[in-house]
Amino acid sequence: MCGIVGYIGQKKAYPILIKGLQRLEYRGYDSAGVAMISTNGNLNVYKAKGKVADLETFCEDKDVSGSVGIAHTRWATHGEPNITNAHPHYSASGRLALIHNGIIENYATIKENLIARGIHFKSVTDTEVLVQLIEHIMLSNDLCILEAVQVALHQVIGAYAIAILDCEHPDTIICARQSSPLVVGLGEEGDFYLASDASPIAEYTDKVVYLNDGDIAVMQLGKDLIVVNTDNETQHPKVKLIDVTLGQLEKGGYPFFMLKEIFEQPNCIRDCMRGRINVEGNRITLSAVIDYREKLVNAHRIIIVACGTSWHAGLIGKQLIESLCRIPVEVEYASEFRYREPVIFHDDVVIAISQSGETADTLAAIELARRSGAFVFGVCNAIGASIPRQTQTGVYIHVGPEIGVASTKAFTGQVTVLSMLALCIANERCTITDNQYKEMVAELTRIPAKMEEALTTNEQIEHLSSIFTYAKNCLYLGRGYNYPVALEGALKLKEISYIHAEGYPAAEMKHGPIALIDSEMPVFVIATRDKLYEKVISNIQEVRARGGRVIALVTRGDEQIRNLANHVIELPDTFECFQPLIASIPLQLLAYHIAVCKGKDVDRPRNLAKSVTVE
Ligand code: M6R
Repeated sequence: MCGIVGYIGQKKAYPILIKGLQRLEYRGYDSAGVAMISTNGNLNVYKAKGKVADLETFCEDKDVSGSVGIAHTRWATHGEPNITNAHPHYSASGRLALIHNGIIENYATIKENLIARGIHFKSVTDTEVLVQLIEHIMLSNDLCILEAVQVALHQVIGAYAIAILDCEHPDTIICARQSSPLVVGLGEEGDFYLASDASPIAEYTDKVVYLNDGDIAVMQLGKDLIVVNTDNETQHPKVKLIDVTLGQLEKGGYPFFMLKEIFEQPNCIRDCMRGRINVEGNRITLSAVIDYREKLVNAHRIIIVACGTSWHAGLIGKQLIESLCRIPVEVEYASEFRYREPVIFHDDVVIAISQSGETADTLAAIELARRSGAFVFGVCNAIGASIPRQTQTGVYIHVGPEIGVASTKAFTGQVTVLSMLALCIANERCTITDNQYKEMVAELTRIPAKMEEALTTNEQIEHLSSIFTYAKNCLYLGRGYNYPVALEGALKLKEISYIHAEGYPAAEMKHGPIALIDSEMPVFVIATRDKLYEKVISNIQEVRARGGRVIALVTRGDEQIRNLANHVIELPDTFECFQPLIASIPLQLLAYHIAVCKGKDVDRPRNLAKSVTVE
């Protein structure tokens, strides 16, 4: 979703702002803009529809001087993606410029009032309402910009991260946050950086302040950072160190971040387990489980809330927890859960899963669960994001920044954490024997090497993909632990290649989707050796009998399916419950190569945002 960047200091602002916008491109956007106070004191705003590169081209012959500025990538919500609706927005007098991420829900009422007072609007965005409101309050009450922002934010309902420039105070940037992320970087020379996440800041400083909901920060040249709330009470946010390296933010020789992240998975999963599995490789320690043992071990029910890929990881978590811990688990789309008046008990444990930690629906589901008295546990990747701060405890997946919009390493990281969590709780509840526990932990430590083996299918999959680029529809089938893998495989293909794909439990196929099967529709079947193996073979036969083309993911050495399917992809064997960690890899590669064959921009699929910060 929208990205915010800001800089105030001694350096030239423009290159920092543009680079920052490039770092945030992965979030998804359709237009970009920048506002700077030039060396001669003018407030210049430049905008372009399309990519950050288009903005750069537009700015080539413009005055981009100055060392104070804010910049924005817009993912359209209110109003089509065009230059007028792009941010920054000027106030009526041209004195203020404002950028915004989020949605102002009561913008229509405020706009009506402002129009009645003679204010003219240029765009149809909710954001312009905010900048006009702030200026109107400032001028009609003779307030300073900070006071006007405080009064205005009292009137606003909705989510926002905003940054404002006032050309009459060229040494200051004011920003504020409510339900949309904002990070302030504290530079070495008293300069300040501002961004929606730490990635644009990481190359300049490792000291950051994650703003909390209700915070208003004043960044003034030569002064310390001031953080207050809308009632002007001083806030004391902690300075944190970020551990993002530049290498994690670059493609490192790969053509796309997605491919880099697919190949990073073995090491990411090692990082995810590091310090949590002992050197003997047979015991897991999760501090969250030690600290909140009673809550977790005695839970009568667990509810998992998540969206998209994280929801698929949740489906695997359900099977792991139910079979190992014997605790009933429900998996909910956060967007449905939050509005469904669900029955939540105070002894429920709610697990919120999110890569970004900023997904608006998941945050709202957490809020609902907390209000109902449930204990909320987060499984998150982005350090310091909203979800880890709004849950009572949790576990980071530690797979490093995920830049590709199509989630890959975060999915396997989430499944790894859920596996460790289920094993820890099962061990505490004695629902598995000590031997089972140790064997399973040992197998988990072997997963990274098996992932490396799965990655050797890359060339075969690249070749296969060129055959399937013609497809208009694809079906993904799996059972048990492999059913969520089928859903995830289909989602990957949809989002980056724009081919319609459906994931289905293999046996359900004959209750409907079997009608779709013909020689034109590839059917990808995850058919690794597990307790439902024979059943899946029958499902493959049903597809073949109707002329369907089957591409089967099988356990290495499986001759039976080789003789049945049109193509097989061989994978290393592992325990059934860990199979998703291996089987998801060829499906990620498949989606990637099909999208590349079709000439798609894999890292920036149309209409998608990496972090969905609006509902
Ligand atoms: O950051 P989150 O894990 O909360 O994001 C949830 C979904 O938006 C995300 O998984 C989305 O489905 C991915 N683009 C899928 O690849």
